[in-house]
Amino acid sequence: MPEPHPNSAMRVFGIETSCDETAVAVVDAKHGLLAHRLHSQVVLHAGYGGVVPELASRDHIRKTIPLVRQVLADAGVCPETIGGVAYTAGPGLIGALLVGGAIARSLAWGWGVPALGVHHMEAHLLAPMLEERAPQLPFVALLVSGGHTMLVEVRTIGSYTLLGESVDDAAGEAFDKTAKLLGLGYPGGPALASLAEHGDPRRFRFPRPMTDRPGLDFSFSGLKTHARNTIAQAGEDAQTRADIACAFELAVAETLATKCRRALQQTGLTRLVVAGAVGANRRIRETLKQVTASMGAEVFYPRPEFCTDNGAMIAYAGLIRLQAGQRDRLAIHARPRWALAGLNPVEPQAHSSSGQT
Ligand code: KG4
Ligand code: ZN
Repeated sequence: MPEPHPNSAMRVFGIETSCDETAVAVVDAKHGLLAHRLHSQVVLHAGYGGVVPELASRDHIRKTIPLVRQVLADAGVCPETIGGVAYTAGPGLIGALLVGGAIARSLAWGWGVPALGVHHMEAHLLAPMLEERAPQLPFVALLVSGGHTMLVEVRTIGSYTLLGESVDDAAGEAFDKTAKLLGLGYPGGPALASLAEHGDPRRFRFPRPMTDRPGLDFSFSGLKTHARNTIAQAGEDAQTRADIACAFELAVAETLATKCRRALQQTGLTRLVVAGAVGANRRIRETLKQVTASMGAEVFYPRPEFCTDNGAMIAYAGLIRLQAGQRDRLAIHARPRWALAGLNPVEPQAHSSSGQT
């Protein structure tokens, strides 16, 4: 397989199947995002109150190839112009990862181009780079999703220092569990946010966990216990439920904001990137905007559709690494657990023969 020059213009196909979204995209080094498509499995899992891994894998098998065809047609590109295929190698559900990895590796083989397994969280934190107003390095990234809550110092691409993370539930998980207590369906985050719109922020005050001591770790599991106790005391009429949702959301938003302010102060950086599905939350966005503005710092978000899992961020992360000469051999990589801090930095001039091991 010919090795492209590290800085050559490249077009990369990206495939995301780490959890309950099948998503594909084509990103071009010169022209940016050409097309992307997504199939959400939310309806498939809704009746179970959470993602059923085996059902997720089977649905990825059904949906990925049709989406690949559609995205190539949407982008108006033929496979001969694709220079590499990127796929999510982890972290995620093992069966789901293997489906995307096997399809990506096979496409790359068929098209005669390199493949590269990318880190799902790295892709999330690089997603704002796809926007017109992209952040410059270095920055602090807040990753908030259903599975993760972490603060990361990003000095260069691939060089990540974990500043803090949740010691128990992720922020999205806390939203989902509290939503369930309030009788809302899965996924609970967006439903709780809608209910909170009608709530009175002054009626209840929820704790801001771990803000009264130094450090950048989070703990959100106590908030759902607080919600349960409040429901037991105050009842479950419609207004009370909305007031509880509002107090919960405000507590999460202000806790995240306190830790982000600390992370910026500690690192001396002035740019904050917010990534992950919980970053689509309106109140959290507003609170972080106010906090960063008050410090003379800036906050960057991907567009809401790229806060949740998507193929564009995988194609983009793959593009950066493939352009730097990284590629995998013929093996399919699938790592359910994979530390972000263990990645190797991208050095544009380097021309390494293997990916991120
Ligand atoms: O990033 P994501 O799609 O999956 C993971 O990689 O975990 O995150 C989904 C999570 C769910 O917990 C969902 O309830 C939460 O993000 N979420 C929200 C909002 N939209 C999604 N939480 C709060 N407010 C929202 N608007
Ligand atoms: Zn994700």
